[in-house]
Amino acid sequence: MYHLYPYSFMDTNGDGIGDLEGIIQKIDYLKDLGIGAVWITPFFPSAWEDYGYDVTDYCDIDPRFGTMETFLRLLFEAHRRNIKIILDFVPNHTSNLHPWFLESKSGRLSPKRDWYIWADPRPCGGAPSEHQSVFGGSAWEFDSSCGQYYFHYFYKEQPDLNWRNPEVRRAMNEVLHFWLKRGVDGFRFDAVKHLSEKFLGYDSSSFPARVLTEAERQDIFREWRKIVDSYGGVALGEGWETDLSKWIKYYGDNLDAFHLPLNFFLMKTDWQASNIRKIVDEVEAALPRGAWANWALGNIDISRFSDRYGREFERLGAMLLLTLRGTPIIYYGEEIGMRDTLIPKDRTRDRWGRDPERTPMQWNDSRYAGFSSVEPWLPVHDNRKRVNVRAQDCDPTSLFSLYKKLILLRKSHAALQKGDYRSVGTSSESCFAYIRGVFGQRFLVVLNFSGETQYIKIEDLDSEGLILLSTLLDREEACDLSRLSLRPYEGCLVEMASDG
Ligand code: GLC
Repeated sequence: MYHLYPYSFMDTNGDGIGDLEGIIQKIDYLKDLGIGAVWITPFFPSAWEDYGYDVTDYCDIDPRFGTMETFLRLLFEAHRRNIKIILDFVPNHTSNLHPWFLESKSGRLSPKRDWYIWADPRPCGGAPSEHQSVFGGSAWEFDSSCGQYYFHYFYKEQPDLNWRNPEVRRAMNEVLHFWLKRGVDGFRFDAVKHLSEKFLGYDSSSFPARVLTEAERQDIFREWRKIVDSYGGVALGEGWETDLSKWIKYYGDNLDAFHLPLNFFLMKTDWQASNIRKIVDEVEAALPRGAWANWALGNIDISRFSDRYGREFERLGAMLLLTLRGTPIIYYGEEIGMRDTLIPKDRTRDRWGRDPERTPMQWNDSRYAGFSSVEPWLPVHDNRKRVNVRAQDCDPTSLFSLYKKLILLRKSHAALQKGDYRSVGTSSESCFAYIRGVFGQRFLVVLNFSGETQYIKIEDLDSEGLILLSTLLDREEACDLSRLSLRPYEGCLVEMASDG
């Protein structure tokens, strides 16, 4: 799966902002890379306070990105190439300019008043609770026209919907049907954790009816899942949970919530062999029977992978991501090693500081990296001479070539796609090794997380193997698993003898 940020993928109408036509033009790029599904972050009409996550109309296309006709063409072109299209659904909040909120705000007697979360000031004055917005400051905004506060977990321009109100549920469910009927293949449900977190730290006795319990939240997840399932689609859920036992609940007690609760465990951690092994083993052990994993190294909300962990780990990260069990999700540009871009103060867009990881895709080494014919909405990284698709596509040893090879190998071997996962010990603490296997087909993945060459023995394995791929893309050879050598930060994918 490819996590695509439409603002920065490809601009075809010369306004410096990416558009849907641009995704159509680059759909063959995604096909050649081996992508099976694209999750596109919001391109619905929006006030752009949170770059698409403040929606003003859930059932239309923002004119800056194109029209409904362009979107349907994109869907058609993607499906023609066997690529699924997954939309981003933002249920926790709308824009403060959404007609629902404008109506709700119009007066205490508005029929949509209860669609959002309004509360009186405390008797002694001030916000109803101490609850802080994730973006800083109080989560309550005073509306002087009616003398009440409304709740916003994110920016004040993103008022939270009241999911206790059945009309909200109905209206939002209709949005899902609207897109599914048009043929989309599923949704990534945004910030779903916060549906039930609205009154933390508050004396809820005054508003007990408004607080969603976890059980009620699960019920909403199940309802969405049923809708998505009825069209044969997929449901991804964003919880940003760092606690395994909480994250696992997003699958649902009977695997009836999200198919893929997004997995953030590799994103902010200690990038060391023993720790990564621990994470993968724990996630694998926690997965309920029949549940399908997913893995990602980055996304629109955090620094690029190499800025978090170091460039030396780019190739190792790629091999890990693409050989684990579960759907790998590639953040656009990761396949060429895009880095955070320094944003001059006067070009800042996102108030929360997430511009550096959202800059234009680097297609070639031209001034605007082939993304646009004009100065793009965010600056292009000046590493574009080296870090660009065209240059790396011509170089058989590039990171991009590694991504392509890994995806191809994954797609052509059932063991890598669906096989079991089992980690194995090695004689070096700097290495993480695991086996993926199905029906006698077995692959060993060995990753050297250190800057030194490691000569290792894989525990309990004396057999011979065949190195199919090294992250350095320069060896394909037979090897002895009791004496394997790995260069600094090298990873190897080894095909094992079936009886080994
Ligand atoms: C998600 C998005 C993030 C957005 C937030 C509020 O976490 O990934 O970009 O700001 O939700 O919608």
